[in-house]
Amino acid sequence: MPVISRRTFLQGSAALGGAFALGAGMAARAGTAPDPQILMAQLAEAQIAKDGLTPKVMTYGLGEAPSTGMPPVLRMRKGEPYAARLFNRLDEPTTVHWHGLRIANAMDGVPELTQPYVYPGDRFDYVFTPPDAGTFWYHPHCNTLTQMGAGLTGMIVVENPDDPTFDAEIVLNLRDWRLGTGGAFIDAFKPRDAARGGTYGTVRTANWQQEPTYDAPAGGLVRVRIAATDVTRIYTIGLEGAEAKVIALDGNPVDKPFALDRYDFGPGQRVDLVVRMPDGEGQTVALGNLRGSHPWTIARFRSAGASLKRDLRDVGPLPANPIAEADLSTATRVPLELTATAEHKATPSICGSLGYTFWAINKVPWPGDTPDPIAPIEEMKLGKSYVLEVANRTPHAHPIHLHGLSFRILNSNKRTFLPPPTDTILLLPDEQAEVALVADNPGDWVVHCHIIEHQKTGMTGYFKVV
Ligand code: C2O
Ligand code: CU
Repeated sequence: MPVISRRTFLQGSAALGGAFALGAGMAARAGTAPDPQILMAQLAEAQIAKDGLTPKVMTYGLGEAPSTGMPPVLRMRKGEPYAARLFNRLDEPTTVHWHGLRIANAMDGVPELTQPYVYPGDRFDYVFTPPDAGTFWYHPHCNTLTQMGAGLTGMIVVENPDDPTFDAEIVLNLRDWRLGTGGAFIDAFKPRDAARGGTYGTVRTANWQQEPTYDAPAGGLVRVRIAATDVTRIYTIGLEGAEAKVIALDGNPVDKPFALDRYDFGPGQRVDLVVRMPDGEGQTVALGNLRGSHPWTIARFRSAGASLKRDLRDVGPLPANPIAEADLSTATRVPLELTATAEHKATPSICGSLGYTFWAINKVPWPGDTPDPIAPIEEMKLGKSYVLEVANRTPHAHPIHLHGLSFRILNSNKRTFLPPPTDTILLLPDEQAEVALVADNPGDWVVHCHIIEHQKTGMTGYFKVV
């Protein structure tokens, strides 16, 4: 199965199979207007599970090329303009949100708040310059439980020419599917689960496959870029059969790469590992989900060829992204309280209401997809520093995602390890944390839980930066 060595990739080979080989939009050079990558939101038949289910999924295809059923990995370069033209060939409105990219508000993909709905048959041009390198992803921001549940979750790699070179790269898009016997989609959620931890899928996949195996150079250092794009599942990953270092979290390099033991990350989050492959040809490494009482294998890596004899100790930190440090002495403090809420009937919406509210931010349950009549949680002054006092007053974990701005976790009553700046914090049950940011990107930035049932049943709000 496909593994791209960086060298092959840089030679621009288009002949490699699989989703990793799609060098979409990588050719743009700074200053030149790039040709847009044509992204077709469409229905396709996908071979999801090993039992041969072929559900009709929603996906993105590149231009008129036949779709594999899996959204392509989009490759961009830090600091270089990128363009994508979305064509909507679904039978409902959609948009694209570029999760974790700190780009202009008008490109952020939130209908009503930042752009119009892209109706069936319509198109929308996205043009932006990613300021940060790392592992990100893209998905719609309309009828998200249905659309993402049906397959619209793709990975983004933002390359940095100054990144160290690894012997291979594997991109893993982790998600589940709610499929019944026979392979058809079943109800996207159960209200009683939406009011708790969320509704789980029935089929677990990495890159739309159950327990796929990827070949990688024996004795090599392999960069594995992982994203949890599932609408519900929180993962605890661990590795068996090899050692690995964590080099980046949520797109941002860790100061000191550390050995992977087990690591928790929730919907929306990413982990970049460097795995030192075993020396012996054919030896396998298992990436597992250790969460819960029944650990299972997510994917396997198999050593191929003669050992490259690389040393994990040679892996140093990646170059940092240009994220401003908040000035804590002048920062304004803003509470952000997550609670359950009394159940109401939610207002219908073009982008699909689930019909309920169960959750709220600062006691206000988001009523639908439009900001009206909801006021921003806070109006922030452009360039000023803020400390958000985040309090999870529920017995459930919530991966809280902020668009357009990255923040740093300053402290927490539940954790000792403080990750690098991030766009998503996995708040543990009853966790209270302070996070700091500089409001350096103007516009309306949504903040919401990335357990999509929670997002859609009230746990959403936005900041206005002016
Ligand atoms: Cu990953 Cu509001 O999005
Ligand atoms: Cu949540």
